[in-house]
Amino acid sequence: MEQKVNENIRLAVQKKGRLTDKCLDLLKLCGIEIENYSERLVVSSRTFPLDILFLRDDDIPEYVQDGVADIGIVGENVIEEKNISVGILEKLGFGKCKIMMANPEHIPLNSPLDLEGRTIATSYPRILKNYLNSEGLSAKIIELSGSVEIAPALGVADVICDIVSTGNTLMMNKLRKGFSIFESEAVLVKSANKELSMEKIILIDDLVRRIRSVLNARRSRYLMMNVPKVSLERIMELIPSLRSPTIVPLADEELVAVHAVIPSDFIWNTISILKSEGASGILLLPIENMIS
Ligand code: PRP
Ligand code: ZN
Repeated sequence: MEQKVNENIRLAVQKKGRLTDKCLDLLKLCGIEIENYSERLVVSSRTFPLDILFLRDDDIPEYVQDGVADIGIVGENVIEEKNISVGILEKLGFGKCKIMMANPEHIPLNSPLDLEGRTIATSYPRILKNYLNSEGLSAKIIELSGSVEIAPALGVADVICDIVSTGNTLMMNKLRKGFSIFESEAVLVKSANKELSMEKIILIDDLVRRIRSVLNARRSRYLMMNVPKVSLERIMELIPSLRSPTIVPLADEELVAVHAVIPSDFIWNTISILKSEGASGILLLPIENMIS
């Protein structure tokens, strides 16, 4: 009997780290469920033709480039450092971090010029080197694969150049935030070279569409409120993002109910305007999915 080729798409995800849970949460909201992933390298979803490969984040760009995985979720910092040609399908809005310079108290770091002649420990030698070159600076780069933040205390380097997300690691190691040289977030990538089968292209399109609808929903809230009829026009003028709201008459003829989708980051400004215009019964609801 002819063996059926596995046409599941293969998605590479960080095995254990800052992106792992957020990737799996995103997939779940896209209707892609997986179970018992903790100890396994490859896990198939029950609800979508997709296999997840759990890998070291530093290896993901290369695996995607070579087609071992069809697509991957990884930080832009890793892609930039590896200098690998992958195509970005979507920015995912999580895993935001910066590659920053950081210094111990006794080493001044007020401007890039303070780096001249220093020894800098980093896991990002390529990004750092490009930065130093672009600023016309020369410094000695010490490449470390981890625990970069202890280098100054060990006397291995004057300052460091490493990922900062919350800043807790710097604080615990008595280092100060200097300036940022690269900003990053998690992205969905595909190989820039490898040709995929039509089946896989269709599946990846479907996945990207689902991800977009989840991200759109995350950026929005569903607003419901009662508004005095006399204020309606003014409220619509004040809040241009209240595009084509649904307006429902109420038993109290002086009021109408207004339902609309608004951007999450506008909410708090918006609410105070609404209240001052007499809006009442204001409800804001999360949106699970916004399909366009
Ligand atoms: C980074 C970095 C720091 C820490 C900073 O490592 O090397 O140790 O995160 O985060 P914070 O500002 O929230 O404290 P990461 O966990 O990404 O591991 P990796 O660099 O080995 O992939
Ligand atoms: Zn890593």
